[in-house]
Amino acid sequence: MADKGLAVITGGSSGIGYQLARIAVEEGYPLVICAHGDELEQAAEQLRRLGGTVEALRADLSTGHGVEALWSHLEGREIALFFANAGLALGDPFVAQNWDDIAERIDLNVKQTTSMIHKIGRVMRAQGRGRILVTGSIAGQVPGPYNAVYNATKAYVNGLAWALADEFKENGVTITCLMPGPTDTPIYDKGLEDTVLHDMPKIDAGKVARSGWDAMMEGKVDVVPDPASRLVSLFSGLTPKAITTRLHEVGAKRRT
Ligand SMILES: NC(=O)c1ccc[n+]([C@@H]2O[C@H](COP(=O)([O-])OP(=O)(O)OC[C@H]3O[C@@H](n4cnc5c(N)ncnc54)[C@H](OP(=O)(O)O)[C@@H]3O)[C@@H](O)[C@H]2O)c1
Repeated sequence: MADKGLAVITGGSSGIGYQLARIAVEEGYPLVICAHGDELEQAAEQLRRLGGTVEALRADLSTGHGVEALWSHLEGREIALFFANAGLALGDPFVAQNWDDIAERIDLNVKQTTSMIHKIGRVMRAQGRGRILVTGSIAGQVPGPYNAVYNATKAYVNGLAWALADEFKENGVTITCLMPGPTDTPIYDKGLEDTVLHDMPKIDAGKVARSGWDAMMEGKVDVVPDPASRLVSLFSGLTPKAITTRLHEVGAKRRT
């Protein structure tokens, strides 16, 4: 099992990250999952019960200190798969949001995600192999009123991954961008309550993870997991912004 190298999943304690962790266990990868909340150890225990060799590292990945803690933990080890998945959404009108909350999203979704991809890119270049899956979003392809900062962070993540997919080819490393549409995870209970987006039917997180896993293993540049989201993705560049903006506003604006 050790021959396979480690699979490392940020945000592996719930939602899409936890489902990716389940697949990694099924596929026989020794696993490190990282998150900063109380559910981490419980998630690790569930994965061990499924037969996995699982290390749980508690770190706040919106901070440089947290990223360094993860990196010290991984130092000198062969990393086969890295999942840059941890992310936070943020609802409400931009000027009603607290600056600290905005800054935390930018730090986690953009700054420290970039820092980790930079670090793992160097590790995998030295190894001469490795696969990275970045969780972007189709939210990064449309204007996001009432989730403005979140959508903008995901536009950055999508763009970074697309560019690096080309650069990393020279190093024997692949990077794939998983771009889900609305997926059934706890993210909607963290500040997106009382919206159409919160209540609408969503894609199963296990199916989204499987789609991302398969695309990563095939070395694809990106993947949008379900047909409805693929339509949104396809037409987002062709549909007038007035329409996509209005649709997003209806979905994301709180009813009260
Ligand atoms: N659900 C969707 O509709 C959807 C669609 C497109 C893209 N995405 C993206 O998918 C990714 C996973 O989200 P999810 O939907 O699966 O939501 P989730 O269940 O809330 O998972 C988020 C994960 O990130 C971790 N995390 C959050 N803040 C962190 C921090 N400061 N340091 C370390 N870990 C942190 C969480 O654990 P702790 O809070 O315990 O730290 C959790 O494990 C995100 O990047 C999100 O933007 C989601």
